[in-house]
Amino acid sequence: MTIRDIFNEMSYGPAPESSAEAQAWLTAHCNRFGHWIDGSFTKPGETFETKNPATGTVLAEVTQGSGKDLDAAIAAARRAQPKWARLSGHQRARHLYALARLVQKNARLLAVLETMDNGKPIRESRDIDVPLVARHFYFHAGLAQLLASEQPGMAPLGVCGAVIPWNFPLLMLAWKVAPALAAGNTIVLKPAEYTPLTALLFAELSREAGLPKGVLNIVTGDGATGAALVAHPGVDKVAFTGSTGVGRKIRQVTAGTGKALTLELGGKSPYIVFDDADLDSAIEGLVDAIWFNQGQVCCAGSRLLVQEGVAGRFHTRLKRRMDGLRLGDPLDKCIDVGAVVDPVHLARITAMVDANRQGETHVAATPLPAGCFYPPTLITGLSAASPLMQEEIFGPVLVSMTFRTPAEAVELANNTRYGLAASVWTENVNLALDVAPKLKAGVVWVNATNLFDAAAGFGGVRESGFGREGGWEGLMAYLRPARDSKALKPVLAVPTPRDPQVAELDRTAKLYIGGTQARPDGGYSRAVWSARGKLLGHIGLGNRKDIRNAVEAAHAAKGWARTTGHARAQILYFIAENLSARAAEFSLRLRDLTGRDGMAEVDAAISRLFSYAAWADKYDGAAKPVPIRGIALAMNEPCGVIGAIAPDDVPLLGLISVMAPAIAMGNTCVLVPGEAFPLAATDLYQVLETSDLPGGVVNIVTGSHAELAKTLAGHMDVDAVWSFSSTDLAALIEGESACNLKRTWVNRARSRDWFGPEGEGREFLRQATEVKTVWVPYGE
Ligand code: NAI
Repeated sequence: MTIRDIFNEMSYGPAPESSAEAQAWLTAHCNRFGHWIDGSFTKPGETFETKNPATGTVLAEVTQGSGKDLDAAIAAARRAQPKWARLSGHQRARHLYALARLVQKNARLLAVLETMDNGKPIRESRDIDVPLVARHFYFHAGLAQLLASEQPGMAPLGVCGAVIPWNFPLLMLAWKVAPALAAGNTIVLKPAEYTPLTALLFAELSREAGLPKGVLNIVTGDGATGAALVAHPGVDKVAFTGSTGVGRKIRQVTAGTGKALTLELGGKSPYIVFDDADLDSAIEGLVDAIWFNQGQVCCAGSRLLVQEGVAGRFHTRLKRRMDGLRLGDPLDKCIDVGAVVDPVHLARITAMVDANRQGETHVAATPLPAGCFYPPTLITGLSAASPLMQEEIFGPVLVSMTFRTPAEAVELANNTRYGLAASVWTENVNLALDVAPKLKAGVVWVNATNLFDAAAGFGGVRESGFGREGGWEGLMAYLRPARDSKALKPVLAVPTPRDPQVAELDRTAKLYIGGTQARPDGGYSRAVWSARGKLLGHIGLGNRKDIRNAVEAAHAAKGWARTTGHARAQILYFIAENLSARAAEFSLRLRDLTGRDGMAEVDAAISRLFSYAAWADKYDGAAKPVPIRGIALAMNEPCGVIGAIAPDDVPLLGLISVMAPAIAMGNTCVLVPGEAFPLAATDLYQVLETSDLPGGVVNIVTGSHAELAKTLAGHMDVDAVWSFSSTDLAALIEGESACNLKRTWVNRARSRDWFGPEGEGREFLRQATEVKTVWVPYGE
């Protein structure tokens, strides 16, 4: 072939990356691996094969982790943890820095091994996965260094159990290991069964980095090993990335155990193209959104929403671009799309697409290699309810719909149970920044897609899970407040006295729903007696129906989230002012109920309202310095509807302490007052009514904590549930919450000093908000 021929054809020649080094590493281990426990490899036990999906060849045998293996790994992590936590932040930072350096030094070997085990193109593992891994360890070396001064009063959780998927094996390891170690925890990590090799190589590198024995442990195995790890009583925190189905199981298994939990689950992320978008850029972006890693990406832009006026043109150009994608040997540097991770997964994708009878399917007219490959596919003309529009396919299959207006785009985008990511393409900056906050997603990319960085939080809302990875917000999930708490004694209502004094006209307090006082649906009430045996009144016993009505009212008031912090502050000040005007009356009521002087509690409640009026316009987001030409905005958004069970021991201050942060951050709420002394809450209705608080922002349902918590936690339209009850409701709330994977914050019937600093502040604000990261690249 002459140079002229080459210029005429402009075809790609093969550009294979050598696998020799990776093969040599495997051979050095006789292609058989045990686990990495306490700083060295165990002897291989019962093994299973891990294959190269592109060729079907067996790469190695790895050990199926047993209960005994997990016991040994968790014991090693437990032994190592106190010493690791006692190291200074600087000493831990040095270890993380050493890991970052070793990842960089071994970058090519790690990339090649990743591609061989997973099937992803070498261009991706070399240019995206491995550099992001190194960046993650560098960034977390910095967090370790600054932790003590930036987050005083926080302590590590202990031993972390991490279970990760196969789509970004080494990157997901980094996302779990770096924050766990930076915060002073030790870790036992189980890689996915299809892709365990880079985790084992990384473990070996950790010895070279001088990481103390037992700080990092890798146990290989399948889902059964993962299930045993997350259920193990020796684990203090579970961090999981994978399917929503498994995430839901893990939520149930860990309910009530006291384990901290973060879940990064599936998605069906919208990719919205407005008619004024730069269509060519949007098409290139789409290649990265859905054909990156064969579409096996939790935040893949798998749902294309394109404005009607340009849809025809856009689809035509997109098909042309698809036809030019190159599939083949993932170790070839010219390849765009590699192999699907395993024949089992290939069969799953095939079955889902083949079951579809709607719309039109375009399969890329590009040669399809034999073996574990699936062609880039576009399906247009589906209805919003089609399974392919709703379910995660997790393959190189894009589904598409059209829309007419921005409002319709937002509605379609949010028409999913997931909420991981979204892309917005338009040349109109006003439109992009108007739409971004309206999307139910943890991450939004403006005129971009699949941008990640260690400084920017990543994670979902709704059934995409909870918790963030990256940034300070990610690190917080590996820490807890270092304070003492005691088991709460159940606070009981004063029993009916033997010689009741019924002096005044009997009053039955109602519930407070949608801004009006409502009779309880069940028609039942309970007498409330003073400590001295005086009848103080009756309270309504709310039931499931009342909670449902309250949740509906809270949803109807969602315009509250769009009010300004300043406006919310005004209302909180006004509530404080009105409470202050009636301080004497509330103080007497509290004395009657609890037998204690009530003025200190009223004063503290007024001060608390002032605190959150102050915070309403001061709980800032951040502009993250990510290494692109652009910024990542971390916006603190309200969670939505929060159901909160208020403390029993301080009836007024407790209720205000959960209500005020929730509404200050723009949430609406359903509050269940302290069970023993609810009249302190029902007296508050009039204060709320006279304070310009829009109806439905705060709803109050009195009654049994356990009964009402069950309904709140099991409600599909509640976004978060908190409990500060003196009854331990953790198992009940966390178990029920699995239905829609709502966030939970439960005290496990442990005390908190509501009068002191632990009764307010950032801990509450963090729980009342979700961080949404909005990426805005600069430049033409
Ligand atoms: P999976 O969720 O079953 O696997 C992820 C990890 O969880 C693996 O390490 C696995 O061994 C482990 N695991 C499985 N069952 C477990 C259990 N009961 N307890 C604890 N750990 C358990 O995902 P799978 O089966 O590999 O893929 C199925 C579907 O899940 C995909 O088609 C895709 O839709 C979704 N998925 C989503 C991912 C994401 O990043 N969001 C990653 C992987 C899969």
